[in-house]
Amino acid sequence: MIMNMRKIVMAVMVAAAVTSCKGPGGKTLILYYSQTGTTEALAAEIQRQTGADVCRFDVGKAYDGTYEETIERCLEERRTGFVPELKPLGVDVSGYDVIFLGFPVWFGTYAMPVKSLLMSMRSDALEGKTIVPFCTFGSGGLQASTEDLRAALPGCDVRDGYGVRTARIAEAPQELNRFLIENGWKKGSIEPLPAFSGEVPVTEETAAIFDAACSGYKYPIGTPVAVGERDIPGGKEYKFAAESFTPDGRLSHVAVFVNVIEGQSPVFTQVVR
Ligand SMILES: Cc1cc2nc3c(=O)[nH]c(=O)nc-3n(C[C@H](O)[C@H](O)[C@H](O)COP(=O)(O)O)c2cc1C
Repeated sequence: MIMNMRKIVMAVMVAAAVTSCKGPGGKTLILYYSQTGTTEALAAEIQRQTGADVCRFDVGKAYDGTYEETIERCLEERRTGFVPELKPLGVDVSGYDVIFLGFPVWFGTYAMPVKSLLMSMRSDALEGKTIVPFCTFGSGGLQASTEDLRAALPGCDVRDGYGVRTARIAEAPQELNRFLIENGWKKGSIEPLPAFSGEVPVTEETAAIFDAACSGYKYPIGTPVAVGERDIPGGKEYKFAAESFTPDGRLSHVAVFVNVIEGQSPVFTQVVR
């Protein structure tokens, strides 16, 4: 039922805006890869809110297997260092100053087709451009992929981006509205959010909020240690400092953001590793 609702929301968002590599022209391009449609829905929503041109890119040998098959294929490619070839791009990026670059998070960073895109471009093709990352993920990866893009594109101004969990794609229109206005990508005014309060140790009450938000996720998210909070429209946002273990057994510190909106169950919005 929830799955069907998510599909409907995504279909409506996509149908509303994406026409491949078309737009009113102008200096901003939305360039994205999407395997299963979530990032495509986000691209469509950015197009709807900004009016920018939009273009999807892909690799020649598409990642069209199941989730497990894609994981297998990626692991093999990572082991051998193989990067698939990009399909010819349907757009000339030279005419754009700002590129919203969209992708799903794979293995904690931008999906492989972004690597294909960056490798296929002439080294100076993106030089001097402003890049705004946007991504979708199961649990998180916006910060890590943004840092990886900054390292891969030293000649670009890679700005802070926007990311949303697949499970929360329905919240994207409202969150994007704030993100686009706050960062000057669209006109409008919006009430600024207050800063988080100072961190205090978790109590039984805040630990229960963390559990309610995180325990249903398919992978363990960690153990909360400290928490700060702030008011957001309709409720509160918590920023938990948590301890978790990496797949190879190392202790790591993560930040877990949780929204508690009145009348709704707590939900985590992203894990920052
Ligand atoms: C190969 C693969 C690796 C993934 N790795 C991560 C990950 O490291 N972290 C995460 O939060 N989600 C991960 N995901 C989930 C995707 O980021 C998420 O489902 C995304 O919304 C898919 O976007 P799309 O529908 O545009 O393809 C992974 C998915 C795949 C297929």
